[in-house]
Amino acid sequence: MAFPFSLSFECILLLTLASLVFLIALIKLAGDDAKNLPPGRQGWPLVRENISFSAAPRHGLFHFLQPRISKYGKIFTTHLFGKRTVISADANFNKWVLQNEGKLFKAKFPKAFSEVFGKYGMLSIHGDLQRKLHGVAINLLGQDKLKAHFLAEVESMIRTRVHQWVGREILLQNELRTMVLELMVKQLLDIDPSEEVKVMAKEFRDFTSSGIGCLPIRFPGTRFYRALKAREALVARVKKEIKEREEHSEVSRPDLLSRLLKEDSRLPEEVIVDFILFLAHAGHHTSSRVMVFAVKHLTEDPAALQKLREENDAIAKKREGGKLTWEDYKSMQFTRWVVSETLRLDGASMLVREALEDVSANNYVVPKGTSIILAIDGVHKDKDNYISPLAFNPWRWQSLDLKEKPLMDAIFTPFGGGARLCPGAQLAQLEVSIFLHYLVTNCRWEKVKEDQAMRFPTPLFIHGFPVRVYPRET
Ligand code: HEM
Repeated sequence: MAFPFSLSFECILLLTLASLVFLIALIKLAGDDAKNLPPGRQGWPLVRENISFSAAPRHGLFHFLQPRISKYGKIFTTHLFGKRTVISADANFNKWVLQNEGKLFKAKFPKAFSEVFGKYGMLSIHGDLQRKLHGVAINLLGQDKLKAHFLAEVESMIRTRVHQWVGREILLQNELRTMVLELMVKQLLDIDPSEEVKVMAKEFRDFTSSGIGCLPIRFPGTRFYRALKAREALVARVKKEIKEREEHSEVSRPDLLSRLLKEDSRLPEEVIVDFILFLAHAGHHTSSRVMVFAVKHLTEDPAALQKLREENDAIAKKREGGKLTWEDYKSMQFTRWVVSETLRLDGASMLVREALEDVSANNYVVPKGTSIILAIDGVHKDKDNYISPLAFNPWRWQSLDLKEKPLMDAIFTPFGGGARLCPGAQLAQLEVSIFLHYLVTNCRWEKVKEDQAMRFPTPLFIHGFPVRVYPRET
């Protein structure tokens, strides 16, 4: 009797191949199990995990972490987007991973990220080049530069902008992004605030908001395509600046680009372009986000706003309309607590690394090639680390400020750690503090409508946080 259906040779070959791949994967997973992975959902890629993780934009990474931490502990294994992933909300483990950057682990980002930020975007480069550019960034943003240079620039730009808002209804998130981008563009490329910088701000919004975390589908109409177009425009703009500087090398310009071009061992043009674009992005996107989230918290916490006003009114009275000094800035203690508390609640959610070899830690083995998500959000909202961790409470820093540095270096890491510790951390804190100083001493504000925050991959208000700004005395 003949079979009711017949299989072609290609079908049989395909089925045999598929079974082989399945078997190899099973053997590999069994082998990895024998390696004592952290507990969790091991096995085939789990669709449910991907769906829950993808819901993080609405609820935040913490929402994804909580039930899994209760079940498996602070370090657990899962499969995300077809890849075995170890997620850690363990402060000491995270600190140790960050300290072993380039040795046992390396920074790892999705393909879309490296295409949008370029081959030489800071987080895509490793080894000597990363160390060199990290050094250049530290040099540009060190405390001496902040005192001698940034303090006055930041103050003047923020003072002008805050006064322009009075009496108007504004989308605070967009205003802050443009304001901080203007500051970065001035420092990096010596371009003054102008309509052109506003256009660049829009391009940066497309460049990053559209491109990060989306599927790399290079097709007109997709978010990724829009991001690549924005990248093209920005690359062309930086290259134009390089050409102009080369043609007029006798004119000295006070910006980072000129310094990079004058170096004895000059970096290749494409490295310079990606470095400048990364700094411009990293330097405005994050600080402006902390500013808008600080305002959100203060809007909802009149006692904290009152205390912040008292501190800053006293400083404003002392300076009698003059410029803020470094000592004034250093004396803003409660302001610093507000900034730290906002960074704790609304800073970076996670950092991603990959194991460069089989790594043993905490009685587990993390196999080579495994993705590791360092869940900063999980550490910052862990009740073992902070009392009532979900509450906005700047006063908690009164006692936290006194805690030992190694402990704080592990449980408070809004700027990462190790070889990739954010070189802009001090500038960011300065910018947010001066912004709060001018805002609370000159204005009051009210929300125009409720706005919802997306929490992940970076916290962001859907409608741009619309507020109406009034002069302070009314
Ligand atoms: C509140 C504001 C900011 C936050 C929360 C923040 C956070 C971070 C974090 C968590 C990292 C580490 C990424 C990783 O290890 O995977 C990082 C790296 C970096 N940040 Fe920031 N950042 C801020 C502001 C800035 C500013 C103002 C600049 C520059 C003007 C800057 C420049 C950089 C650069 C260049 C890196 C890459 C360092 C490297 O890989 O060597 N950041 N930032």
